[in-house]
Amino acid sequence: MHHMEKKLKVSKEIQSLIAERLPGHSLDAPFYLSPEIFDLDIREIFSKHWIHVAVEPDIPEPGDYVTVEIGLNSIVVVRDDDMAVRAYHNVCRHRGARLCSEHKGSVGNLVCPYHQWTYNIGGELIYAEHMGEKFDRSKHSLKSVHVENLAGLIFICLAEQPPQDFSVMRDAMAPYLLPHGLKDCKIAKQVDLIEEGNWKLTMENNRECYHCATNHPELTASLFEFGFGYQSAPGNAEQIAEFNRLAAERCGEWERGGLPSAEIERLDELVTGFRTQRLPLDRAGESQTLDGKVASGKLLGEFERADLGGLSFWTQPNSWHHFMSDHIVSFSVLPLSAERTLVRTKWLVHKDAREGIDYQLDNLTAVWNATNDQDKRLVELSQQGARSSAYQPGPYSPFTEGLVEKFCTWYIGRLSAGLAEQSAGSP
Ligand code: FES
Ligand code: FE
Repeated sequence: MHHMEKKLKVSKEIQSLIAERLPGHSLDAPFYLSPEIFDLDIREIFSKHWIHVAVEPDIPEPGDYVTVEIGLNSIVVVRDDDMAVRAYHNVCRHRGARLCSEHKGSVGNLVCPYHQWTYNIGGELIYAEHMGEKFDRSKHSLKSVHVENLAGLIFICLAEQPPQDFSVMRDAMAPYLLPHGLKDCKIAKQVDLIEEGNWKLTMENNRECYHCATNHPELTASLFEFGFGYQSAPGNAEQIAEFNRLAAERCGEWERGGLPSAEIERLDELVTGFRTQRLPLDRAGESQTLDGKVASGKLLGEFERADLGGLSFWTQPNSWHHFMSDHIVSFSVLPLSAERTLVRTKWLVHKDAREGIDYQLDNLTAVWNATNDQDKRLVELSQQGARSSAYQPGPYSPFTEGLVEKFCTWYIGRLSAGLAEQSAGSP
């Protein structure tokens, strides 16, 4: 090992915040504010788990790449000549210069801008001038990063040893996702939104629809809020029973047609947990649009009917996705600092769909552009509150925020496990 893992000392104060987290409540303020906890999040969460960073249509051709920043690390995800997806640390093996500075591009080889050391797409150093006879190029390949592909969704893991075999999630999810043909899509639009809030507030916000009815008129035009993590309670029992009847009926129909639709929830027992379900949509029932109709006339995969509801897929710690009959919306959350978060949204349509003819970009993006802006505001309001001396962890609703609680429990559990590992490993 040339690289010494940074031994971050975790203060007693933070250790006790982790140990004493009040279950069923939002986190203590330092979890949303402290740069020290941010560093811990990068080390224990974002450097050790499967992180969603890209989709295959980001890099359709050999040599196409995207870069992604995770804490202080930059990673380049590139398609090789055999069409496989590879990932490397974006760091030259000469004197460490950043190789690719753009977010996206296309290359024949990866050429360092500093002294032109040149790596092929397989990561091997193939050219280095003036290094003498004894220099061994084969000892200076790019450092590779674990990369996995789930039906076109690309995940990386920075750990030397990923904490969980990726096939656990892929085996369960591929049958749900593959029929939507993500590989044969193109990115119609990408929007990078920066939220002035901690990444965990972004994730908490994503894991409940308690706030949907009053905050998301565009989203709830097609989305039944009761489908999203609600438990039956005295105030909503009838509506939920009604929704569940509809969902059971439609899911049965879809499953008989060969589309897996039943809920899978594996948030508790897995290191990189996930959840999925295919749910009916309101109005025309076809897509997450303002009128519930498909936004793109060219349906995905082999679909012959448009009314397939919405298949949602959530992963721990940083992504969610909505797969419909005509388009896919994919989100990845990347922490920038304790109080800043990048939310990257991609709208995908069939690669043969023509803008302006098969789909209108405004119509395709209307719902989630509006919803993202609304959620950004809510996250920022929460962040402002967490900065106040009056903030204290508040109770989650057992009926609408069960999945928020699961996210926080998982997060605290992973930090505890990381600290336990570290103290076991130190003398
Ligand atoms: Fe890359 Fe010198 S730092 S070639
Ligand atoms: Fe929201």
